[in-house]
Amino acid sequence: MADDLRGWLAQMDEMGELRVVEGADWNLDIGAISMLNGGKANGPALLFDNIRGYPQGYRILTCAVSASSRIAHLLGLPQGLSDLELVGLLRRRLPKWRADAPKFSPREVQTGPILENVLSGDDVDLFEFPAPNWHEADGGRYIGTGHAVITMDPDGGQVNLGQYRVMLHDKNTVGLFARPGTHGRMHVERWHAQGRVCPVAVSLGHYPLITKIAGTSVDDEYSFIGAIREKPVDVIREEITGLPIPASSEIVLAGWIHPGERRLEGPFGEWLGYYAAEAAPAPVIRVERVYHRNDPVLIGAPPARNPSENTHWRVLMASAILHNWLEESGVPDVRGVWESDAGGRTMIIVSVKQRYAGHAKQVGLLIAGCRHGDSGSNMTKYVIVVDDDIDPTNVQDVMWALCTRTDPAQDIDIVRRTWSSSLDPMIPRPAKGFFNSRAIIDACKPFEWLDRFPKEIAIRPELAAQVRGKWGDGLGL
Ligand SMILES: Cc1cc2nc3c(=O)[nH]c(=O)nc-3n(C[C@H](O)[C@H](O)[C@H](O)COP(=O)(O)O)c2cc1C
Repeated sequence: MADDLRGWLAQMDEMGELRVVEGADWNLDIGAISMLNGGKANGPALLFDNIRGYPQGYRILTCAVSASSRIAHLLGLPQGLSDLELVGLLRRRLPKWRADAPKFSPREVQTGPILENVLSGDDVDLFEFPAPNWHEADGGRYIGTGHAVITMDPDGGQVNLGQYRVMLHDKNTVGLFARPGTHGRMHVERWHAQGRVCPVAVSLGHYPLITKIAGTSVDDEYSFIGAIREKPVDVIREEITGLPIPASSEIVLAGWIHPGERRLEGPFGEWLGYYAAEAAPAPVIRVERVYHRNDPVLIGAPPARNPSENTHWRVLMASAILHNWLEESGVPDVRGVWESDAGGRTMIIVSVKQRYAGHAKQVGLLIAGCRHGDSGSNMTKYVIVVDDDIDPTNVQDVMWALCTRTDPAQDIDIVRRTWSSSLDPMIPRPAKGFFNSRAIIDACKPFEWLDRFPKEIAIRPELAAQVRGKWGDGLGL
């Protein structure tokens, strides 16, 4: 396993998983190429070099972990597994990683490649890096899309890594968009409630697992990354903020968020496929210090309508996290959980072996109120509970169950005023609060007459094998 992004890039090159793209423009070219490539199931990772207006060597990496092959590699899982097999393995590994995490707390070191260039005061110029204008109607250049925002809880000192978009305002100021309820946002609010400035560091390029875990709902991210890699993350205590930054990062910004200071942020093309949130005042980071390696690599991960480069990881992780959480809450016989990309990840499908009256609804209610998964689950709109003969990853199967095993008047319940976000295109503006509602659809056969529910048309496996043996080749059955 490589120790830093450079080592990982060399491995990807060897595995045929990396393409170098020369001569693209930071203004729209890089965004368009990345979105077209990121939407493909097995597109390669892209390393942009010789970017217009920037010295050779100042690179951008996109689609780093867009394909299953690179997801499996990053997590130390076998290659060639189906999505459900990957979720199954992840379900077993997640509790192990969580339990192991305390053994892999970050290791503080005194030096590392990130200290190759240290810039303060007037020498700070964020335009030194080729931050792209990703989508045509974005309100500015976004330097942080594939990054990790590092904050600390003033009460207790817990460090958090989160992925919250970072917009370039000027040579030493960036905007931060962290939704209410995220740990980063709560940290900022707690510092400010104490009348203090909030210290923050943003790592903009690093071993890709850092990005991926920052964007996933787990606690104590550094230790969790250490547990996955079975090796602690080396960190340096950043001089002005005191925050731990990865010693082998490519670029780190360090500075302060001042109470009450806001600038217009956005709009930004987001993962539901819309510019739902208009430009709005958002906190800013006054950057006092920039660290970077020679010839730094900035990681980008532009959101786009699904499927995008971020989809696959998020679907697999959220599905595994939600399934484990349901089991831990004591509900029996959950057979599969799928945070479907078909619904832009606002639809969660759960299959259960029904054991008692109300079992399916219980599962639906729990998932509808669950905080875990990722930002998709926070913005859930539909929870569909299906029987265990339905494959939750198969949209065709799920829609068949939905249409043939429900009576809408009886089987759809609506829970109102639930947690949503300004990214929801269905919330009219101006809005005082970003609420949505959740539809819980019980698409299971009615429990009270399960044994009398009409028999399905099915081809017995023996009969299928028999006719395939005789006519399969000619008819391609
Ligand atoms: C590519 C990507 C971009 C994201 N952008 C944002 C964002 O701009 N704002 C936000 O609040 N959450 C964003 N998220 C979701 C959070 O990173 C995610 O909910 C994470 O679990 C938050 O960490 P926390 O629970 O420690 O706050 C993004 C996630 C990904 C994968």
